[in-house]
Amino acid sequence: MVDKTKILSVYKKKIQNLIKHNKLYFNDDLPIISDSEFDKLKNEIFELEKKNPFLKKDSTLNLVGASPSNKFKKINHLIPMLSLSNAFDKNDMEDFVKKVNNFLNLKNENLELFTEPKIDGISATLIYEEGKLIRGLSRGDGVVGEDILENLKTISSIPKKINAKDTPSLLEIRCEIYIGKKDFLKIKENFANPRNAAGGSLRQKKSTETSKIPLKYFAYGFGAVRPMIFKTQSEFLKRIKAWNFLTNPLSEIVIGLDEIENKHKKIDYIRSSLDYDIDGLVYKVNDLNLQKRLGNTSNSPRWAIAYKFSAEKAHTKINDIIIQVGRTGAITPVAKVEPVTVGGVVVSNATLHNEDEIERKDIRIGDIITIQRAGDVIPQVLSVDISKRKKNSKKYLFPKNCLCGDSTKKELSKSTKKHDAVRRCIKGYDCKFIAKEKLKHIVSKEAFNIDGLGKKVIEQFWDLNFIKEPSDIFKLDYNKIKTLDGWGELSITNLKRAINKSQTISLEKFIFSIGIRHIGQENAKILAGFFVSIKEFSKLLDLKKRKKLLLNLVDLDGIGQTQVESLHNFFLNDTNTRITKDLRDKLNIKNFSTQNVAGKFSNKKIMFTGGFQNMSRSEAKAVAENNGGKVLGSISSKLDFLVVGSSKPTKKKIDQAKKLNIKIILEREWIKILDS
Ligand code: IVH
Repeated sequence: MVDKTKILSVYKKKIQNLIKHNKLYFNDDLPIISDSEFDKLKNEIFELEKKNPFLKKDSTLNLVGASPSNKFKKINHLIPMLSLSNAFDKNDMEDFVKKVNNFLNLKNENLELFTEPKIDGISATLIYEEGKLIRGLSRGDGVVGEDILENLKTISSIPKKINAKDTPSLLEIRCEIYIGKKDFLKIKENFANPRNAAGGSLRQKKSTETSKIPLKYFAYGFGAVRPMIFKTQSEFLKRIKAWNFLTNPLSEIVIGLDEIENKHKKIDYIRSSLDYDIDGLVYKVNDLNLQKRLGNTSNSPRWAIAYKFSAEKAHTKINDIIIQVGRTGAITPVAKVEPVTVGGVVVSNATLHNEDEIERKDIRIGDIITIQRAGDVIPQVLSVDISKRKKNSKKYLFPKNCLCGDSTKKELSKSTKKHDAVRRCIKGYDCKFIAKEKLKHIVSKEAFNIDGLGKKVIEQFWDLNFIKEPSDIFKLDYNKIKTLDGWGELSITNLKRAINKSQTISLEKFIFSIGIRHIGQENAKILAGFFVSIKEFSKLLDLKKRKKLLLNLVDLDGIGQTQVESLHNFFLNDTNTRITKDLRDKLNIKNFSTQNVAGKFSNKKIMFTGGFQNMSRSEAKAVAENNGGKVLGSISSKLDFLVVGSSKPTKKKIDQAKKLNIKIILEREWIKILDS
């Protein structure tokens, strides 16, 4: 007879041992037994369980990797995780190099760019304090990430401790997590592509699940670093490689357009042979000092660009053409095509852009077409194979009315005197198709960022008359939602919490959220900087005050006639005005603050006129803002300094400033202040 107690005791000891080594390996990165000894231990436990079924219930064998994290805590990034702007051809790259030079006021054709493959994976950031990995976050919305440290720790090649003396005491490493193409083949039944698999795995609630999928990573950048010891991107990667981080071996310095183009061609050629998906190359200004000077726009750094590879193509048939209405009223024709796989994804819709495009390419229902899919964007119809067209095929007549039945318009551009290619419904919120899209925009990540209130829920709540306009989001009857399929206690609590949280919002996000045409994130920020408070911004709702305000806005750097007209037209519409008021009254809108940056120009209001020798206007503005200053677009008594560049300053502005006793700073003094 088997002595069950004895077996149980041996078994428990082995399990304790496994937990200990598991922790040493995954949490502390300090394994004290070899991998084969670890596997042997696991096998012994497995054999014991197999022979003694009574042990099964106690099994902790699934436990591989660090302890499970039950939910992801939201944590602010030390420095936002931005995205990259894209280039698609040599011209775009030429533009990028020009823009960099213009911003820096340079004419440097020999600007060093560091190029790296753009890994198509999931971004994460790793924070080390005194060399020890203490935090690991997902990108989240770029500002707030999720605590996925335990899951990241299951990736054995990520250093848990840096065993070197020359590391900064705070070191944040940005990296891309991916699953190798070969590894993906083993699990591909469950996921659409390797990127999804990596994302799914990283977001597992239990790190034991993450550890089942072999994740890998490449480190490509840094976030917060103190003290800053790196001088160039190439040197940074070399140093972290020495500290046991994995960096991509295909990276190198290139100079000039020819080298940029050659490198792109070379990597595109070998792309399919790599064990990881890449969708382009990232080109980064190598000098970190220049990177710092270039800084960021609201979404992406000015010092880097993703030069995408050309997209994958496929042939298919157009079964139908339908129209979709966007939040700006744009009527977009969409081809419903015979489903076809393009780059591993099944495609059944492709955009036809606009009426002119259909006309130009003479695209018809029933046509055999070539479609192209690049990245995450909706595939496009490239061309039609006229030779395969049936004799009885008829020209496609573009509908002149919106889905709501109202007529549509092509706007006349004042500057080019040409009609816009895009047809639009101009009813705004009074068109239910536009209204739904506007609501989807409001809840999106970049706007109110309400978790649990995605596009599908908006559609559902719209149909149920729960949400018809933005302010309804804050009047939801949760008792009604409770009765719906798929809504339990937990999801309702989470939704309530997310909505409550979103009720406090910055002025710039509010301005962006209300969805005024031509007012994207960057312009919303400029406007928020101008108005500062919702009280001031609300003056736009009043026709008389608006007219006066708009005159001042034209002078703002970045705001032009198009934006001013768009603001005017938006608030001319009574529904827009009412909806904006109703929404505003439900919110706690925070004043715009330059995040109280302490610096040479803290709380000072500055204006520029004329060009500088060593820096562009854009850089001057960025420097002022990074030093706590606020840049104004027009002279007023609120102004502290007028900075006068030596190249073509406006005399009228200088005279106005003198009249108002505003301090005038000449270019050399400005440079002196910056250097001090
Ligand atoms: S540099 C945006 N380098 O692409 C800040 N990004 O579209 C600078 N990515 O969030 C990013 N490989 O997740 C950089 N070699 C590489 C990259 C890379 C992949 C991802 C990364 C980033 C996204 C931006």
